[in-house]
Amino acid sequence: MITNWDFRLRRLATVLSVAILTLSLLAAITGILLGFYYQPTAGGAYYSLTKITNEVPFGWLIRSLHNMAGNLLIVFGLIQLVVMFLGEKFRRSWLAGWFSNIFLILAGIGAGWTAMLLDWNQEGFWRFRIELGIIESIPLVGKEISSILVGGSGVTTVTVAHLYALHSYVLSAVAVSLAVIHLVSLLILHRSEVKEKEVKMPLNSVVSDS
Ligand code: HEM
Repeated sequence: MITNWDFRLRRLATVLSVAILTLSLLAAITGILLGFYYQPTAGGAYYSLTKITNEVPFGWLIRSLHNMAGNLLIVFGLIQLVVMFLGEKFRRSWLAGWFSNIFLILAGIGAGWTAMLLDWNQEGFWRFRIELGIIESIPLVGKEISSILVGGSGVTTVTVAHLYALHSYVLSAVAVSLAVIHLVSLLILHRSEVKEKEVKMPLNSVVSDS
């Protein structure tokens, strides 16, 4: 039986999935706008972002909105996990909703991670070098993953280009697609629950009449 509490949680889950889709679209649109001026090279990345912030009209706003949407996407995805858990949605019929949300969070974390080197500052550069060392220590595949990311013998323009391609083409497309799948899976389930309720209603009324 669906209680009032379940109903509220399910409504909250739907509202959150709309918010998640909005955030992923906002991140993708502002990302494309950044891409108009951003230069994915070791020499140009930092200066192009400084130019976007200081010279391009509303560039600072687009940059802030992009960073905010990208980070909030992960926060909302995590809140959604808790809401779905409390709403007892850990059932077979909710699998698409669960998986789409979990992989969406991972895509968001991946986007944040690949962005670490995109502004080409000291902090991002050294963090990337350290984390690359951790990736290299993964048995069997670590070295291969590292060489795909780096694209040569050192962290250079090629590395920025690789991370930019992963960030802006692969992960952004994956994040938007998963946000759509997540919302649609919750809506389909919501409709089937409403139908189920309608079918059960006359039976209940027969029982209470007798
Ligand atoms: C759903 C899609 C996307 C997500 C979730 C996303 C997420 C992020 C995140 C979390 C950051 C780092 C923010 C921070 O420093 O705290 C970032 C930075 C960046 N993203 Fe995206 N992004 C997306 C799409 C795109 C696209 C399509 C492009 C370009 C075509 C792009 C270009 C950039 C650039 C240039 C930066 C560095 C900006 C800066 O350091 O201020 N992003 N993104």
